[in-house]
Amino acid sequence: MVAVVALFSDEYQADPHPALAGLRRSGPVHRVVSAADVPFWLVTRWTEARQVLADPSLSKRQPVDGLPQELQAVLSTQLLLRDPPDHTRLRRLVSGAFTPRRIEDLRPRIEQITDRLLDGLSGAPEVDLIDALAFPLPFEVICELLGIPAAERGSFRGWSNTIILGDFGSADLAEAVRELSQYLRGLFARKRAQPTDDLLGALLAVDGDRLDEDELISMAVLLLVAGHETTVNLIGNAVYLLERWPEQKRRLLDDPGLVPAAIEEVLRMAGPSAMSTYRVTTRPITLGDTTIPAGEQVLISLLSVNRDDERFADPDTFDPSRDDGGHLSFGHGSHFCLGAPLARLEGQIAIGRLLARYPDIRLATPWQELRWRPGLLMHGLTALPVRVTSR
Ligand code: HEM
Repeated sequence: MVAVVALFSDEYQADPHPALAGLRRSGPVHRVVSAADVPFWLVTRWTEARQVLADPSLSKRQPVDGLPQELQAVLSTQLLLRDPPDHTRLRRLVSGAFTPRRIEDLRPRIEQITDRLLDGLSGAPEVDLIDALAFPLPFEVICELLGIPAAERGSFRGWSNTIILGDFGSADLAEAVRELSQYLRGLFARKRAQPTDDLLGALLAVDGDRLDEDELISMAVLLLVAGHETTVNLIGNAVYLLERWPEQKRRLLDDPGLVPAAIEEVLRMAGPSAMSTYRVTTRPITLGDTTIPAGEQVLISLLSVNRDDERFADPDTFDPSRDDGGHLSFGHGSHFCLGAPLARLEGQIAIGRLLARYPDIRLATPWQELRWRPGLLMHGLTALPVRVTSR
């Protein structure tokens, strides 16, 4: 089915759900043309999305010809953009650091950072919660985990923002990748000379089947960017939804044990990744009654599939007790989000501690006036002004 979808309009940016609901009603998969006139297929229903994510015949490789050299190196060696056997090998080298058990060990440190950041809210008449908590918490945690010295983190927010929002052809993105790669090369040299007890130190110390220099840079860039650009939106979107559903916020205040389920429901209703990264068909595949030929780009609208009423009853209602765990916000299959245990723990600690400390937190701006980050990839607020009563 060919659809001309206004995915790039201001209206869609302000609220994508009416357009996505219309697409879902008309079918599970749609032919779409991007702002740059590139045609692709957009999957909007849950069943077909799982089918695509679970199908190993779809490739993740991106064409890199003609791109600046540093960008080519980062893209062509990146875990998220590789197929087996390279993907399997790279994932095995890092997955040990992200198991739920290893991540649980970080709990006391994440709580400590959260409490310090929450101290900063006290006494201020109005605070942007993105700046005060949602951004710095995952950012500090991933920098610490990787072993980026605190005094050297100044340029990362700019680089990472450019990388996540830019398109591969943009000069800004190539420049951000070049600067970040250059910084990381220097950091690796220092860590080789003086080994450190952190994830980059461990990856540098692997014997035998180790990452080469380009793969190391690519992995560090991916973990840095994926490690905070998404979780910032999880925390921000959680506060936004709780403000829009005050009776659910009251339930969490009365029963903090519901916080983990509430975080899952935030992931379903307002997951940080609006779209899953793309895949390319290597043979014809049939989704519903549409057959997509080989060599075509396929994207999944995670925002849409998580509100599919064939999978979720009453999908536009925020209900932490639905407890059916079926959202696809972390993807599915072999590329399932490596950082899911970390993102979940950070989200649970941030929201649990925030509500315990400032139960009267409220928006300082009507929710209708909040602005969403531009672009199709991420779903998060640019700012989240709140007021709290000092404690
Ligand atoms: C992959 C979402 C947090 C690291 C993915 C994918 C999604 C996703 C949808 C799969 C993409 C695809 O199939 O094309 C999220 C969300 C997060 C989050 C919603 C926060 C709420 C994190 C964190 C880290 C991380 C904290 C790192 C510490 C990764 C990596 C991959 C990945 C390395 C690639 C896995 C692979 O290709 O095998 N993430 N992510 N993510 N994520 Fe996350």
